[in-house]
Amino acid sequence: MCVDNFFTGSKKNVAHLLSNPDFELMRHDVTFPLYVEVDRIFNLACPASPVHYQFDPVQTTKTSVHGAINMLGLAKRIKARIFQASTSEVYGDPEIHPQPESYWGKVNPVGPRSCYDEGKRCAETLFFDYFRQHKLDIKVVRIFNTYGPRMHPNDGRVVSNFIVQAIKGEDITIYGDGSQTRSFCYVDDLIDGFVRMMNTPDGVTGPVNLGNPGEFTMLELAERVLRLTASRSKLSFKPLPADDPKQRQPDIRLAGELLGWKPKVDLEEGLKRTIHYFRHVVAN
Ligand SMILES: NC(=O)c1ccc[n+]([C@@H]2O[C@H](COP(=O)([O-])OP(=O)(O)OC[C@H]3O[C@@H](n4cnc5c(N)ncnc54)[C@H](O)[C@@H]3O)[C@@H](O)[C@H]2O)c1
Repeated sequence: MCVDNFFTGSKKNVAHLLSNPDFELMRHDVTFPLYVEVDRIFNLACPASPVHYQFDPVQTTKTSVHGAINMLGLAKRIKARIFQASTSEVYGDPEIHPQPESYWGKVNPVGPRSCYDEGKRCAETLFFDYFRQHKLDIKVVRIFNTYGPRMHPNDGRVVSNFIVQAIKGEDITIYGDGSQTRSFCYVDDLIDGFVRMMNTPDGVTGPVNLGNPGEFTMLELAERVLRLTASRSKLSFKPLPADDPKQRQPDIRLAGELLGWKPKVDLEEGLKRTIHYFRHVVAN
């Protein structure tokens, strides 16, 4: 069963599954209780891109916090194993590099990103309290920047922005001087990590970082996208948004030890596959 309120998601992304008798799609907002019978719950509901999560910040916090309470309540009622898609944003603008799971983070509690960062932090707190207090079977991963086909063309995150701008021949928007770095994980690698984590024995709770440690500046990313799309777009520099982290890179040693996981798709290959997808979307 797939549950979504379609705030940033699209039915088109699951259209190919609708004819499968084992697949059910339900429009539902996780800030309201849900009564279904399932064995396992993946709690992924939450806008993840700053433009979307800052559109209605109160709803963003509600989605993370009330959403976690409702999904944990459901898991408790039906005795289901429950997985939480947490985020590298729980580390905020980190003082150590790369970030291991033991790092508590440096997060602004009152800034424009706080609805997302603090919402996800509170969701983690709820997961671990349900684990300690109610013995719930929880699995928590902290996802670092992930990209790939089926992202929304107006998602607002850097990989899709650059690709769509390059394909359309529009200026590539770079915030700041482009020297800030990010690591980019291809979606198939991430999902492989999700499945491995969900299948770990009882008591393996995480949090576990999932991401690709390869680190690139925004300028390097823009140059690669321009080359792979053979685009003549120019670079356009804009001021850095508030609380934008300067550097972010996952320490994935724990994922290696616990899950035998490491990313396989490098940036070059992942960008090629994503560009292929966006060429089709932009053309239609
Ligand atoms: N992609 C990344 O780089 C990244 C990084 C860290 C964490 N995450 C987390 O992974 C999860 C999925 O992210 P994504 O990149 O696929 O983003 P996305 O925006 O593509 O997907 C989020 C989905 O949640 C749905 N949703 C939002 N609010 C909801 C609500 N109140 N009730 C029901 N559904 C709701 C949206 O419609 C959408 O389908 C999110 O929880 C996000 O915070 C993603």
